[in-house]
Amino acid sequence: MALAVEMTGISKYFPSTAVQANRGVNFSAESGQVHALVGENGAGKTTLMNILYGLHQPDEGEIKINGKHVLVPTPNEAIHLGIGMVHQHFKLIPSFTVAQNILLGIEPHKYGLLRQGYENDMVRALADSFGLPVEPSEKVSNLTVGMQQRVEILKTLQRNAYILLLDEPTAVLTPQEADEFFKVLRNLAERGRTVILITHKLPEVMKVADQVTVMRHGEVIEVTSISDTNINSLAHAMVGRNIVFNKKESHVRPGEVIAEVKDLFVSSNNGAAAVMGVSFQVHKNEILGIAGVSGNGQNELTEAITGLREVDKGKVLLASLDITKAAVHERRKSGMAHIPEDRMTMGLNLQTTLDENVIVNQYRQKPYSRAGFLVAAAIRKLANSIIERFSVASAKTGEGIATLSGGNLQKLVLGRELSGNPHFIVASQPTRGLDVGSIEFVHKSLLDASRSGAGILLISVDIDEIFSLCDRIAVLYRGQIAGVLSAEDADEQKLGILMAGGNLDPAEEMTQ
Ligand SMILES: Nc1ncnc2c1ncn2[C@@H]1O[C@H](COP(=O)(O)OP(=O)(O)OP(=O)(O)O)[C@@H](O)[C@H]1O
Ligand SMILES: [Mg+2]
Repeated sequence: MALAVEMTGISKYFPSTAVQANRGVNFSAESGQVHALVGENGAGKTTLMNILYGLHQPDEGEIKINGKHVLVPTPNEAIHLGIGMVHQHFKLIPSFTVAQNILLGIEPHKYGLLRQGYENDMVRALADSFGLPVEPSEKVSNLTVGMQQRVEILKTLQRNAYILLLDEPTAVLTPQEADEFFKVLRNLAERGRTVILITHKLPEVMKVADQVTVMRHGEVIEVTSISDTNINSLAHAMVGRNIVFNKKESHVRPGEVIAEVKDLFVSSNNGAAAVMGVSFQVHKNEILGIAGVSGNGQNELTEAITGLREVDKGKVLLASLDITKAAVHERRKSGMAHIPEDRMTMGLNLQTTLDENVIVNQYRQKPYSRAGFLVAAAIRKLANSIIERFSVASAKTGEGIATLSGGNLQKLVLGRELSGNPHFIVASQPTRGLDVGSIEFVHKSLLDASRSGAGILLISVDIDEIFSLCDRIAVLYRGQIAGVLSAEDADEQKLGILMAGGNLDPAEEMTQ
C-alpha cells in the first residue's frame, strides 16, 4: 500500500517548557489504514500530529504526503493537502448550531445562494452519507460531549479530509457509541482514507487499528501490525513496565451516610427535565457508581450536587447539612471535592499559574491564607507535593499550565481535589484521556481515599472503570435511577439491560 503520510526525523523542542517533545520521530501511515498512535501522557503524540497539521513547525525533519515532499506552515495548508484534525479538546462554538459549526469558514458562495434551510439539508446529507446522524439545527451547547465530537468529525469530512487525525476521539464515548464509531472509521479506511487515531484505550486499538506506533518520551519505541501484538505487550511498550489491572476485591463495610440526594429534579440548559426524582445515599468508605449512556442526566445531576446548577425540587445533603442552595465554595468548605468531566473549562484556568490553579479551592483556608493574605511558601509547598505525588510531568510551580499535555492537566486537577482530604468526592469521568499507567494511579488514589473514610460518587460511562472501583452501582436512564446493584450482583449484561432502558425483573418484562 502507498504511504499517505511519511514523517522522517521529526524533532521538536519547546523552549518555554524545556521539553524535547519529539526526538527524531519516524512515523508513517498507509492509505486505507487505521493507524493507532499510543503512548503515555506527555509522550509527544499530540505534538507530532500538530506538526502534521501545521500547528507547529518541526525543528528538524521532513514530511511527505502521498509520496510528495510538503511543507505544512499552517492548518489551512494542511486542509488544502487533505489533512483534517479533531483535537483532544473541542474547538466548537457553543452558541452556534451544529450546521453553523460544520460549515464555519466555508464561504456561502461556495454552495450557491442561500436558501432557507439549505445549510441544514447539506449537513444532514453529509451526516447521513457517513452514518453519523446529527440534528443540524441544534445548538452545540445543548449537545452531549459524544455528539459534539461527532460534529467535529463531520467538520473535517466536510472539508474533504483524506487523512484524518483524531486525538483521543473515543475518550468521551460510551462503549456502545465507540463501537458505532469504529464502524465509521473502518468504513472511511475502506474507502481509501487514512485514519490516525490517538488513544489510550488499548482494547480499542486491538479492535479497530491495522497498525500501531508506540511513543515514549518523545521517541518512537515500536511500530507493529495489530496481528503481531496484544494489549499487554503494548502496555509494556508504552510505560516500560508491566501494568496490573485491578478488580475491586476487599469490601470495606460502608459506614454512616456522608452524602444524600433526595427526590432531586433538575432541568437541562434548554429547560427540559433532565433529572427526575433521583434519590440515593453515599456512605463513608463507599464508592457509589453512576453508570449510564452519556446524556441521560449525568451532567445535570453532577452539576446540581456540586453547586453548578440550580435544583428545581428536592434536596442535597452533606452529612446532615442541607447544601441544596449552598455556593460552590461553601460546599468545598464542608468537605466536598469535585473532579469535573470538562477539566479544560471547569477544572482549571489555563491563563494563570500552576500555584493559582492548585489553591483555587483552598485559598480562604489556613495555612494558605493568614489574616487575609496568601502565604506563597505554603501554596508552593502544596503545589510541589501535588506535582510529585501525582507525577504531573514537566509541570513547575510559579509557571503557566497552558502547555501541559492533556493527561497532565487532568492529573493536576485530581491532585488538587484529593489533596484537601475531602469527606465526599464527586468524580466525573476521572480517567478520561489518561494513559494506562495514570489510570492505574487514579484508581488507586480513589480507592485509598475511600478506604481512609471518604464517600465517593463516581459518574462514569466506562463500564470497566465502574466495575473496578464501585461497591454499588446505580444506573441512570432518562434522568431516573433504573436500578441499583451491588458489586457482587452486577455483571455487564445486567448493566447493559438497565442502561438501555430494559427491566431486570422477568415477570414485569412479560406483562409489558
Ligand atoms: N505548546 C507547547 N509549549 C511548550 N511545551 C509543550 C507544548 N505542547 C506540548 N508541550 C510539552 O511537550 C510534551 C509532549 O506533549 P504532548 O501534548 O505532545 O503529549 P501527548 O503524548 O499528547 O500527551 P497526552 O496523552 O497527555 O495528551 C509535554 O511535556 C508537554 O508539556
Ligand atoms: Mg495529547
